[in-house]
Amino acid sequence: MLLYKNEAELRIAAVDTAFRRDVLNGLAARPRSIPARWFYNRTGSELFEAITTLPEYYVTRTERSLLSSAACEIAELTGRGRAIIEFGSGCSTKTPILLSAVRPAAYVPIDVSKEILWASAERISQSFPDLPIYPLEVDFTQPLRLPGPVASTPTLGFFPGSTIGNLLVPQAVDLLRSMAAALGSDSMLLIGVDQVKDADILLPAYNDAQGVTAAFNLNLLRRINAELEGSVPVDAFRHVAYWNDSEARVEMHLEAVRTVQFEVAGRRFAMAKGETIHTENSLKYGPQDARVLLQAGGWSPIADWSDQHGLFSLILAIEGPPPTATCFHRQPGLPWSKGMQ
Ligand SMILES: C[S@@+](CC[C@H](N)C(=O)[O-])C[C@H]1O[C@@H](n2cnc3c(N)ncnc32)[C@H](O)[C@@H]1O
Repeated sequence: MLLYKNEAELRIAAVDTAFRRDVLNGLAARPRSIPARWFYNRTGSELFEAITTLPEYYVTRTERSLLSSAACEIAELTGRGRAIIEFGSGCSTKTPILLSAVRPAAYVPIDVSKEILWASAERISQSFPDLPIYPLEVDFTQPLRLPGPVASTPTLGFFPGSTIGNLLVPQAVDLLRSMAAALGSDSMLLIGVDQVKDADILLPAYNDAQGVTAAFNLNLLRRINAELEGSVPVDAFRHVAYWNDSEARVEMHLEAVRTVQFEVAGRRFAMAKGETIHTENSLKYGPQDARVLLQAGGWSPIADWSDQHGLFSLILAIEGPPPTATCFHRQPGLPWSKGMQ
């Protein structure tokens, strides 16, 4: 049951203005950087979906497996009948596992990538025909107002895919706080967090052998050319990914392979050979770091699930300060964790 399409269509103009501002400011800044959210036009979302099926990209298959094995336990902890609000829902491929287990009162997918948002909502509505679905094509970093019909329903926020890692820590804390404010008291949050691990596992996930991640990164330049009257010579750039150990993050950049000059929205830019545009951060967290992050953002973790290799964690948290009794188990090597074997 798909609702609210017209309201979402009205927001498109505002998104385009923000894209122009972020690209022009980002290209003029030193170091140059453009926020990762602008990867996600239709092609960007399709390329990201292709990334999630690559052998090197352990993130999606590990999170899906954790979600499948923990689904009943999650439903016991959340109870039934909450509204599920999914932040950065993309293709919503893991969502049916949660919807089947939790049997929500409504589903609100939120994404800036409009085609993928509506196509995914349509697919979910075919699998769950009685479920009211209210897609929101909005930037989740902006203050969020829930659709009227779910505003008075208890909520479960769902933030999978380690999208939280695309934000620097202060931004992540701000986002978690604004989620807590929007979802309301007694709300819960199920979040997927990628763990710190060896660079020989991390780096191929961001620089795959088939070049899909490179195409995803370079698509940002194609989007700039198409939507902002750009003349960026895409073949003059290459995809670069590396591990920044001091910041515990994988960084993606677009590096100029020769001196280039181009225009975007009437402004001229020049880049020397070797100069880069920083396009994505993917911060990785240790188990305790993720708990501290959630607490700083106004959430109290009550349970978490990690795979046996410690690649990825799913954490369930409640809004506000910790409850008096918790349901954590201590696992060797995985502090206060409900480990999956
Ligand atoms: C890393 S992908 C994750 C997709 C999916 N949730 C998953 O787990 O595979 C990030 C998703 O968040 C969306 N997104 C990124 N920044 C956003 C923002 N500021 N507001 C709304 N959606 C955003 C992107 O369009 C994309 O679909």
